Amino acid sequence: MPAYKETKMKYGYFDDNAKEYVITSPKTPLPWINYLGTDGFFSLVSNTCGGYSFYKDAKLLRLTRYRYNNVPADNNGKYYYINDGKDIWNPGWQPSKTPLDLYECRHGIGYSRFTGKKNGLKAEVLAFVPVGDNCEINKVTLTNESEEIKAFKLFSYVEWCLWNADDDMKNFQRLLSCGEVEIKGSAIYHKTEYRERRAHYAFFSVNEKIDGFDTIRDDFLGAYNNNDRPDAVVNGKAGNTVASGWSPIASHQINISLKPGESKTLIFVLGYIENPENEKWESYGVINKKPAEAMQARYTTEADTEKAFAALKNYWDELLAKYHVESKDEKVNRMVNIWNQYQCMVTFNMSRSASYYESGIGRGMGFRDSCQDLLGFVHLIPDRARERIIDIASTQFEDGRAYHQYQPLTKKGNSDIGSGFNDDPLWLIAGTSAYVRETGDTSILMEKVPFDNDESKATPLMDHLKRSFDFTATHKGPHGLPLIGRADWNDCLNLNCFSEHPGESFQTFGPGEGPVAESVFIGGMFVKYGKEYADLCELIGDKAEAARALEEVEKMNKTVLSEGWDGEWFVRAYDAYSHKVGSKECEEGQIYIEPQGFCVMAGIGLAEGKAVKALDSVKERLDTEYGVMILQPAYTKYHLELGEVSSYPPGYKENAGIFCHNNPWVSIAETVVGRGDRAFEIYKKTCPAYVEDISEIHRTEPYVYSQMVAGRDAKFHGEAKNSWLTGTAAWTFVNISQYILGICPTHKGLSVDPCVPADFGDFTVVRKFRGATYNISVENKGVQKGVKELVVDGRKIEGTVIPFEEGKSEYNVKVIMG
Ligand code: GLC
Ligand code: GLC
Repeated sequence: MPAYKETKMKYGYFDDNAKEYVITSPKTPLPWINYLGTDGFFSLVSNTCGGYSFYKDAKLLRLTRYRYNNVPADNNGKYYYINDGKDIWNPGWQPSKTPLDLYECRHGIGYSRFTGKKNGLKAEVLAFVPVGDNCEINKVTLTNESEEIKAFKLFSYVEWCLWNADDDMKNFQRLLSCGEVEIKGSAIYHKTEYRERRAHYAFFSVNEKIDGFDTIRDDFLGAYNNNDRPDAVVNGKAGNTVASGWSPIASHQINISLKPGESKTLIFVLGYIENPENEKWESYGVINKKPAEAMQARYTTEADTEKAFAALKNYWDELLAKYHVESKDEKVNRMVNIWNQYQCMVTFNMSRSASYYESGIGRGMGFRDSCQDLLGFVHLIPDRARERIIDIASTQFEDGRAYHQYQPLTKKGNSDIGSGFNDDPLWLIAGTSAYVRETGDTSILMEKVPFDNDESKATPLMDHLKRSFDFTATHKGPHGLPLIGRADWNDCLNLNCFSEHPGESFQTFGPGEGPVAESVFIGGMFVKYGKEYADLCELIGDKAEAARALEEVEKMNKTVLSEGWDGEWFVRAYDAYSHKVGSKECEEGQIYIEPQGFCVMAGIGLAEGKAVKALDSVKERLDTEYGVMILQPAYTKYHLELGEVSSYPPGYKENAGIFCHNNPWVSIAETVVGRGDRAFEIYKKTCPAYVEDISEIHRTEPYVYSQMVAGRDAKFHGEAKNSWLTGTAAWTFVNISQYILGICPTHKGLSVDPCVPADFGDFTVVRKFRGATYNISVENKGVQKGVKELVVDGRKIEGTVIPFEEGKSEYNVKVIMG
């Protein structure tokens, strides 16, 4: 057993008033990161100042260079070095790793703050991206806390990425000859490839006269040096080097002297500029810097910077105020009011592109991923959810199929991976239904949307949903269950693929779309989202279509109950030979989580007692202290007929890992059967705030969800991976906000129907919904579910739905559970 398994510890604490996580030791088990940026300009920043920046596309417009998979970990970022005559140190500890007298990193909502102290000098760095501007501000404040005058030298450092991050890592024969810079005053400009095909450049500036600069990396660092002790910093003298090719950097030298108690603030700006084609040049070979200088001028004083920072705080406060709970459980409050909503927004901004696990050069946006992410942010930014739905639907094929992924810049479907993931079409119904329930905006259903981006084939969005629905209804296998195609939600269940050699894609190799393999999970989805489709039909007055849809749903419901039931739980699938997957008949992989969660969420088997039985089986067979595993027993050998799922070592990823994404499905399912104790127990197991004190085991950030936690069969059971960009964020927010706390948008208005542990106590929720504020207070004298009384503005209402009244701006709601 490795040593870290033996201790349980934390590396910081939550400061809920400030909405920050405060990291007090730089040696976190893994880099713990944060995201800066709300629209075009984004930065990833770790707790030791590692990370990188990009504009809109993390692959094509990468501003600064990062070294993946590097030793030591988390190498390259935006660094400030201090040479005080005695030591070389950094306020964020890396890269010099000089022990600090004090280290603190505060990750906040859209900003990070670092404080380092050494030899009586305090250095603070506040990093943020202002709303509506394409730059990152680093406000660096130096304070002399000693009794003597302190004279020291400060060096800044960023290493440019030569734009295309993929090329930057491999096309050395070309790119090492291309680097170009300009220096003007205190601003260093990176203009590689600007001369020919680009009209954009980046710069790094400071609002102070500089004492030197460097732009040639290898001169600044010194031959064979790492960036921990650059020659220029050690010698206390920048070389004023001007790069030509190789690896250009931007470094400023500023010599500072402070009296006891005195402080000095410097404002560094890392900016991105695009010029119109005909305004690229100021003079022959000299880039037009006007927009850059205007940007620098916006942040010359501390007051300017404070104003921009206040605007950022305000932007986030308004967003997060859309759902605010006060309960006696401070961890629930913290996750709901701050971190879970924040993660939902970041996941929206990044899709699956840029994290410390997603390199930013890989896959496009997933059709199903994007639809599910939407469930978590639609209440925050409904307008952008609307736009996203139209973008996604525009990549659908005429027969209802969908591209599995699309490229965010072109918004086109990605033909490398193509189509054939047969759950995809139904997620479009899920996303659209959530949007319409949230906003009441039915006009989106009439909006003309193309197929496969071909405008000549545009039809109303409602017609796209019909084709999604019909695709499943008309693609069934021998048992009457939906055909699975290349895979369903579980990308690794590849029942038609038969990949035998390394390098063959598990998903796209082989015949792919077989006529036999079927998915019970898609059956459950069809029942759930088929009903939501029928609701949308009702809403626009198409009663006949609603009735037809419900007939199809009922047919599927019956089929799942007969063909998809294994005796004590729902079967997962039928393979290409019509053998059961996820059944007691199987040698390995007897029970899977997905159909248990989704079928019960859909209401299948409630009346027959099968729903409860399935959930009891989950508890008995899949539960662990760190969450519910995706399947059991783990596959110990490779099953050609099952594919990637059996390729992972037991306990990792889809092979019996705790795939956090579908834990909330089971928790929601528990609320459907009314077991609030169990629903909440499941919620807590993967919830970051509750696992904070086992960070040594969990290892990823204790303020956000990870995609996966290693299952019981794994060597490192309880260890998380792939933090930040995961559908877990959206689904857990749906779970806690709509099912456990029970405030759920319906077409007619907000419904309040909590399902909580019996001792959860009273709580209040402020929910902004369709332009109105709902002040909801829930009284609970010890039940898990049930609304005894619903009073809206003094008036008693039947049922659980607060009828929405156009134009009314405030609702005061009292709910008594019982
Ligand atoms: C990853 C994928 C997601 C898939 C899941 C399970 O998170 O992004 O699309 O559903 O894995 O395989
Ligand atoms: C790989 C991953 C899986 C992910 C899929 C996305 O199969 O292991 O988790 O869902 O790629 O395409």
